[in-house]
Amino acid sequence: MSVSDPMSRPNDLDAFWMPFTANRAFKADPRLLARAGGVHYYTPEGRAVLDGTAGLWCVNAGHGRREITDAIRRQAAELDFAPTFQLGHPLAFEAAAKLAAITPVGLDRIFFTNSGSESVDTALKIALAYHRARGEAGRVRLIGRERGYHGVGFGGLSVGGIMPNRRQFGAMLPYVDHLPHTHLPLRNSFTRGQPLHGADLAETLEDLVDLHGAETIAAVIVEPVAGSTGVLVPPLGYLERLRGICARHGILLIFDEVIAGFGRLGTPFAADLFGVVPDILTVAKGLTNGAVPMGAVAVREGIYDALMREAAPGIELFHGYTYSGHPLACAAAIACIDLHCDEGLADRAAALAPYWEQAVHSLGGLPNVADIRNLGLVAGIELAARPDSPGARGGAVFRRCFDAGLLVRVTGDTIALSPPLVIAEPEIDRIVSMLGDAIRAEV
Ligand SMILES: Cc1ncc(COP(=O)(O)O)c(C=O)c1O
Repeated sequence: MSVSDPMSRPNDLDAFWMPFTANRAFKADPRLLARAGGVHYYTPEGRAVLDGTAGLWCVNAGHGRREITDAIRRQAAELDFAPTFQLGHPLAFEAAAKLAAITPVGLDRIFFTNSGSESVDTALKIALAYHRARGEAGRVRLIGRERGYHGVGFGGLSVGGIMPNRRQFGAMLPYVDHLPHTHLPLRNSFTRGQPLHGADLAETLEDLVDLHGAETIAAVIVEPVAGSTGVLVPPLGYLERLRGICARHGILLIFDEVIAGFGRLGTPFAADLFGVVPDILTVAKGLTNGAVPMGAVAVREGIYDALMREAAPGIELFHGYTYSGHPLACAAAIACIDLHCDEGLADRAAALAPYWEQAVHSLGGLPNVADIRNLGLVAGIELAARPDSPGARGGAVFRRCFDAGLLVRVTGDTIALSPPLVIAEPEIDRIVSMLGDAIRAEV
């Protein structure tokens, strides 16, 4: 074989610069997934790995769903690509209508993206453009929250609050501020479901209004349940208060539901569970069950209408992606939404949630378990950090789980669990049993 023939170096791990990965450590000791079906991955050697994380919070309907893969296959043969700039194709309109039908009432205008990061940056830009269209161009300030994760675009990074994600990349966007996070371990540890303490932290938004002036603030963005930082469930009443303050000051509220949406909490969206409807809602991941990259932004009709009404003739929003509404992604989203509706996946998650809660909290007595947090089919098990080595215990537990046949997600020393919603009780038992063994082994 010639050197230029890619098959001449079939086992070479060098070229792929892996995202959010310790490349050197991984390439010295790789873990590969070759196949998936149902609630399992399979390694190239054929070893089953129980998926405790729905891939990366994506595969809510379970792996390898024929309804979705067939739709993608059919669509690839029918229309591989069509631009959506000044042109359209039927599936993009159908996918938007399907999504609008399941998002909370009023969030009926859909902008398609390709990822959660793009959804977040799109939402922030729509918020800015909306205020400008209405003659409030001074509303340029964006408010995020400490420990928030909103992807890796400069907008999402700027409003995000995870320091290691930010520190390599310079100055970020100007005119950004942050609310405090809601993690109160001394008062809320081992709470089942929503913590009792901390709703008053929403009032810090009033402090930012006092500091900057409401007339300078465009939007507040939060994850209703913060995932990537290690599963932080909102205190009872917190989101309601945030909603009230935003409404009082004409500030748009954005819920980043990239992981909380699509049945994860036992309702179609987190907004449904908490009874708090934002002005803008971002999704991705579960929208196509992870099968094709796609994100979306669902917007209150009045926001869309304001831009249509006030913009000069021509393009109303100078924003979009080559692959906004890509035919394969639309086909996957339509099939995925149908599947969610036909199988009642959110209701299934709600029915399993009490069992899940009981199961994950049974780990509470194990050595080094510092806190357990849960809601819907999500859990965070926070381990005490090893002295002088934050993240080491979490990383070791992750590797032990993988070797034992369980995929978990680790952020720092918190193990995050978010299995496919089609999981069954005996598989939940296996997750807890394998994770418990790994935690016990890492004293
Ligand atoms: C809340 C939230 N927003 C945005 C993102 C970014 O999504 P993506 O990785 O698809 O860009 C994520 C990813 O985990 C997320 O959890």
